[in-house]
Amino acid sequence: MLLVVNGPNLNRLGLREPGVYGSQTLEDLERQCDAWGAELGQAVTCRQSNYEGQLIEWIHEAEEHGFTGIVLNPGALTHYSYALRDAIAGQRVPVIEVHISNVDAREEFRHKSVTAAVCRGKISGLGFLGYRLGLEALVEGQE
Ligand code: DQA
Repeated sequence: MLLVVNGPNLNRLGLREPGVYGSQTLEDLERQCDAWGAELGQAVTCRQSNYEGQLIEWIHEAEEHGFTGIVLNPGALTHYSYALRDAIAGQRVPVIEVHISNVDAREEFRHKSVTAAVCRGKISGLGFLGYRLGLEALVEGQE
C-alpha cells in the first residue's frame, strides 16, 4: 500500500503556471497514480495539503496506517522546511521526492532541497511521469 502526498499549491495544478506545471489537474494526477498503482499491484492513496503540519502528520502516521512507501512532492517546502525533513528522517517508510518541474533549471532558491538527503531518491523535471517512476521504485525496493 503506497501513499502519494502533494504539498502546498499543488491543488492548483492546471490553473497554476501551466507553462511550468502543465494543464492537467491534481485530480488527473491522482487518477493516474491510482491506475499506475493498479498496474503495479499496489493500492495507492493520494493526499494533498497546503499545510506543513498536516504533511508532517501524514508522514508520522504512514507506517502505522500500513503504507510501505511514500511518493512526496513537498512543493516549496522542499527548499526550507527542516520540520518536514526531520519528519521524514524520523520514521522508517521510504520516501521518494518528486518534482514536476526541473527545479535545477529554475530560480536559484529551488536548487536546494533540504528534504532530498533523507529521502530514498529524488526525481525532478519529468512531469507526472516522475510519480509513476517513484511508485515503481518503491515497489522494486520491496522485492
Ligand atoms: C515543485 C517545485 C517547487 O519549487 C515548487 O515550489 C512547487 C512545485 C514541482 O513539482 O516542480 O510548488 O515541487
